[in-house]
Amino acid sequence: MKRVLSGIQPTGAIHIGNYLGAIKQWVQLGESLGKEALFCIVDYHALTNPSAYDPELLPQRTFEAALANIAAGLDPQKITLFVQSHVPEHTELSWIFTTQTPVGDLTRMTQYKDKAGKLKSVPAGLLMYPVLQAADILIYKADTVPVGEDQLQHLELTREIARRFNGAFGETFPEPQALLNSRAPRVPGVDGAAKMSKSVGNTIDMLEDPKSIWEKLRVAPTDPARVRRNDPGDPDRCLIFKYHSYFSPEEVQQAVSQGCRSAGIGCVDCKKLLFDNMMKTLRPIQERAAELRRQPEIVEAALREGAERARSMARETMHEVRRKIGLYKPY
Ligand code: TYM
Repeated sequence: MKRVLSGIQPTGAIHIGNYLGAIKQWVQLGESLGKEALFCIVDYHALTNPSAYDPELLPQRTFEAALANIAAGLDPQKITLFVQSHVPEHTELSWIFTTQTPVGDLTRMTQYKDKAGKLKSVPAGLLMYPVLQAADILIYKADTVPVGEDQLQHLELTREIARRFNGAFGETFPEPQALLNSRAPRVPGVDGAAKMSKSVGNTIDMLEDPKSIWEKLRVAPTDPARVRRNDPGDPDRCLIFKYHSYFSPEEVQQAVSQGCRSAGIGCVDCKKLLFDNMMKTLRPIQERAAELRRQPEIVEAALREGAERARSMARETMHEVRRKIGLYKPY
């Protein structure tokens, strides 16, 4: 059976960029295609993020990431949801891959360059980050990886790592393909300037209080050319219209587009419509999250069972890999 895998870092609240770019696709994929789906909370990756990693907060953040994914519709009965560090074979395979991966392939990764450029002392783990990501995917021989656009380069490296291993030790791994949500490959942040990102602090979080969401939308930038209420605007230059395209039905999108161009609708009313439609998606997720918070044992059981299932698949691959690379095992 074909396998699909994706991962998310437990570095804080999950935002609508994560939801639209990755989680929503996971949920849909889990229910179609007949693929076996695995979703991994990548806590070892989070250790490479010095500004977000806190040993006191990591357990809670990992739990919250699992809870948020289940609340967003990921059904642990259908999907293997687990925590990366609960399947230690990921780090074992990652080490093997590091021995085969040229340092130059890693230093050219744009995410590495961005993150390392902001640090005085760069941990080696940050450089190895995409190798661990390749291990997350390849240990399950996953062929499909739903992600946002920012992960495409890491996926390309994963394919190179698979090719190199297959070339050296015989056909073992598939070359996995990224699966982008074509409507939301790169969700812009609510500042209207950068990609929505935890590290930039321009997020709308999936479980955020509606009042706080509204406050962010209320002050969010719109088409800069539309200064007064009666100025016509260009929806294609407006962040709020972009958000409408993710959350509002087609007829609302058409109405606000036309209203904006003719100055028939003001920006505040347009934002109110967006808020209502956004909350139609987020409110049920927030309600499920509140229920799960009252029953943490559901989340814990899902993660325990998920780790068991994932581990039995990972062990199988590691037997094969250890044999192929020539590790000594007389017993
Ligand atoms: P992370 O935790 O940064 O993000 C999780 C997922 O959300 C997507 N995403 C976005 N999509 C659209 N617009 C945005 N503004 C946006 N921001 C984030 C990301 O592309 C990602 O799909 N390295 C990964 C985690 C990882 C992983 C893996 C992913 C580790 N191992 C194996 C897939 C397979 C990361 O940091 O994602």
